[in-house]
Amino acid sequence: MTSSAPSLQVVVLAAGQGKRMYSSLPKVLHPLAGRPLLAHVIAAARLLSPRHLCVVVGHGAQAVRERVAAADVVWVGQERQLGTGHAVLQAMPHLEDEGTVLVLYGDVPLIGAETLRALVDAAGGDRLALLTQEIADPKGYGRIARDANGRVARIVEEKDATDAERAIREVNTGILAAPRRKLAAWLSALRNDNAQGEYYLTDVVAAAVAEGVAVEVRHPRAAHESLGVNSMAELASLERRFQMNQAARLLESGVTLADPSRIDVRGELACGRDVSIDVNCIFEGRVSLADGVHIGANCILRDSTVGAGTEIRPFTLVEGAVIGANARIGPYARIRPGTQLADDVHIGNFVEVKASTFGRGSKANHLAYVGDSSVGSAVNIGAGTITCNYDGANKHRTVIEDDVQIGSDVQLVAPVTVGKGATIAAGATIVKDVPPGGLTLTEAKQVTDPGWKRPRKK
Ligand code: UD1
Ligand code: CA
Repeated sequence: MTSSAPSLQVVVLAAGQGKRMYSSLPKVLHPLAGRPLLAHVIAAARLLSPRHLCVVVGHGAQAVRERVAAADVVWVGQERQLGTGHAVLQAMPHLEDEGTVLVLYGDVPLIGAETLRALVDAAGGDRLALLTQEIADPKGYGRIARDANGRVARIVEEKDATDAERAIREVNTGILAAPRRKLAAWLSALRNDNAQGEYYLTDVVAAAVAEGVAVEVRHPRAAHESLGVNSMAELASLERRFQMNQAARLLESGVTLADPSRIDVRGELACGRDVSIDVNCIFEGRVSLADGVHIGANCILRDSTVGAGTEIRPFTLVEGAVIGANARIGPYARIRPGTQLADDVHIGNFVEVKASTFGRGSKANHLAYVGDSSVGSAVNIGAGTITCNYDGANKHRTVIEDDVQIGSDVQLVAPVTVGKGATIAAGATIVKDVPPGGLTLTEAKQVTDPGWKRPRKK
């Protein structure tokens, strides 16, 4: 992280309602890759190490402040949205007198720190720097109007533009950097006698030109960085863009993706060498996959660590777990928070494991529930076996020591301990501790009535 001029201050505009989202959630709280739009912008701003980070909120201010709680953010209210210039003006009293102010937007989430750094550098401390872009269809944007010498003269909003101005394809992204003192003066002098009756931030450009302040222009490093979210369609399209970028990074680092357009990373995914990921997998929070991990199709992993050589088979959900090396999980397994599986563990189809530890080489291959349990090493848990860990009021622990063999359809009524090397016969209901070694069975004797007749319909 390089820190730019110590006097950089950032203002993020996030007061708008987002009418075209047709949602009761404030626009900047809609998630992109699992995080609110505004959180992406704040993260980009932080990479510049600003002195102050001000966010201007209005619609849903309370919800926004709660959801995007951040100790380094100064929240500024804008009760009525009287325009972008009015919005930035609200932040002024919360900024230091000197330095450069960078204006960002809470609904432009893909903006990159390198683009911003270049813009702040262009502003220098005494110039106005605008982030502009040539686009094929400039409709709706403010246009960059230049004089006969090609120098920026002003920004004209679509609704105030003449036909000739509307033909201009260089548009204002909205993002700019300006000297703090001058910006304050320009903002205080703004008028709202325009087509929208708003105080336009963009009018500071003409003010700068009138004062002879140099206006610099920079462009985003990647075209999509300046895209904003005004509708669900735009949100979905930025989500795909973001995911494609992440997939590209994974491919570049040597991860095999069966289809880069069918992976979603909503957080941080760290991969070792020779990791392969099949289609339709979702990674949330912090997930780390060691060398040689293979993730089958349609898996969801959240806040988990997977050891080298482990295979997560299709349709498996892993949450808050630590899985060792060379393990085999799934298909159709559910690993819940607080679970730690040692190396060589096998968890098979329709097995749910919650807040439990499994020692090396232990297996539960089919149809089982293991909750609040400590399972030793080399244990085999048969199909249909469940720990009865809940008495309706409290959860109790089950301890299964090393080398235990549990047959099919066993109920272990916790709290209970099964001693080392014990074998439990199929169908047993274990209500008290089982001693080490030996065979424990509780099932009724099997009897046959050879003369029995099936009932018949009357
Ligand atoms: C603005 C620019 C336009 C640029 C476009 C890029 C102005 C006058 N125009 O137009 O040149 O091409 O962005 O998308 O600046 N906001 C507030 N408080 C307000 C008004 C707006 O916080 O009082 C926030 C909105 O929530 C939004 C952003 O500022 O995130 C932009 O406002 P919006 O009204 O969408 O501006 P545009 O008309 O798109
Ligand atoms: Ca807009």
